[in-house]
Amino acid sequence: MLGNFSYSNPTKLYFGDNALDNLAAELEKYGNNVLLVYGGGSIKKNGIYDDVIAILKKCGKTIVEDAGVMPNPTVDKLYEGCERARAGKVDFILAVGGGSVCDYAKALSISVHCNEDPWDKYYIRFEDVDNEIIPVGCVLTMVGTGSEMNGGAVITNHKQKLKIGHVFGDNVFPKFSILNPVYTYTLPEYQMVAGIYDIFNHICEQYFSGEDDNTSDYIMEGLMKSLIHSSRIAVENPKDYEARSNIMWTATWALNTLVACGKTTDWMVHMLGQSVGAYTDATHGMTLAAVSLPYYRFILPYGLQKFKRFAVNVWNVSVDGKTDEQIANEGLAAMESWMNELGLVMNITDLGATEDMLDGITDGTFIMDGGYKVLTKEEIKAVLKESM
Ligand code: NZQ
Ligand code: ZN
Repeated sequence: MLGNFSYSNPTKLYFGDNALDNLAAELEKYGNNVLLVYGGGSIKKNGIYDDVIAILKKCGKTIVEDAGVMPNPTVDKLYEGCERARAGKVDFILAVGGGSVCDYAKALSISVHCNEDPWDKYYIRFEDVDNEIIPVGCVLTMVGTGSEMNGGAVITNHKQKLKIGHVFGDNVFPKFSILNPVYTYTLPEYQMVAGIYDIFNHICEQYFSGEDDNTSDYIMEGLMKSLIHSSRIAVENPKDYEARSNIMWTATWALNTLVACGKTTDWMVHMLGQSVGAYTDATHGMTLAAVSLPYYRFILPYGLQKFKRFAVNVWNVSVDGKTDEQIANEGLAAMESWMNELGLVMNITDLGATEDMLDGITDGTFIMDGGYKVLTKEEIKAVLKESM
């Protein structure tokens, strides 16, 4: 049965190879001082920076630049950005980049006018926002996180060895996002496939929970099938517009709150992956790939019917003459061979995790209770060990 829910999503999307044409009209709705947030320079190499700057100038905006947002943005960068935004009396934040840049922009939007330490308030105490929020718009260049249409903002604190995501409410969602699939053509293959697995795992996190017969699960099966199909085309030909646009659109729907409506969700793979990320600073999607199969094989007996349904409906595993357990395991084997086909990193050792980090990574893993088995600390450590 579908549980009760309310649903809204305030982000306006512009999708397609001319989506940037809508930026000027959106910018006109906001104040004059724009903080342009971007990463390590990819947008300067591929020309997106020049196009965005030209539009900002044409709109007569005063531009303050905040460059160098790193993958897995840090709390130190957040403090620095707050200073910069205050000095520039910023009215609007334009994020041009991937999930890291979009997440950072959202974290900044609620931190600039926060009169205490935003890390403690939002990431340690998980409090709601009760101060002025600077509106954010996104021009997306890397596909995976869904940050373009959600309220999530993940920040890493290297001193405390914690990587924490807070999912904020509607007022923190981007006001608009510009999604041009062509912008993703210049992504290195490593980032492209990490993003593809991030999308897939967002769906798994919401799918592997509950046994009900509900529409959300059917939507997710469709999204997974589209993603598997398009990923194979994109790996062969990264400039296949149809495949790249399907992947971009799937990423948005995988994590813009829709598919979680009326059902419980898990998120344990992300909790494990984030803690691995806090120790290794590894690429987000790869941390998920590296822990997924040990985790799913461990919980399979507790959610057998759903793993069987996954095998049949997503991976077309035949059922004839097989036990439920065999079918379910064949589904995970099919998933594993697709992951290998993409070239994902399949263990945390290759991401830089070592035995002596295991206790710390275990301690930094939040335990969720929406999946098929609430893990104990010992079980978390065992899954991590199996992931090495
Ligand atoms: O910094 P630049 O030079 O731009 O390079 C980036 C970066 O090195 C590069 N890149 C991005 N677009 C490119 C490009 N290179 C060439 N051409 C382009 N068009 O790609 C690298 C990775 O970018 P990043 O933004 O870090 O990747 P992603 O989008 O995967 O974001 C990862 C962050 O998002 C968080 C992750 O934890 C991580 O911190 N997440 C956010 C979520 C949310 N808001 O809901 C959910 C996710 O589960 C995730 O946790
Ligand atoms: Zn993710």
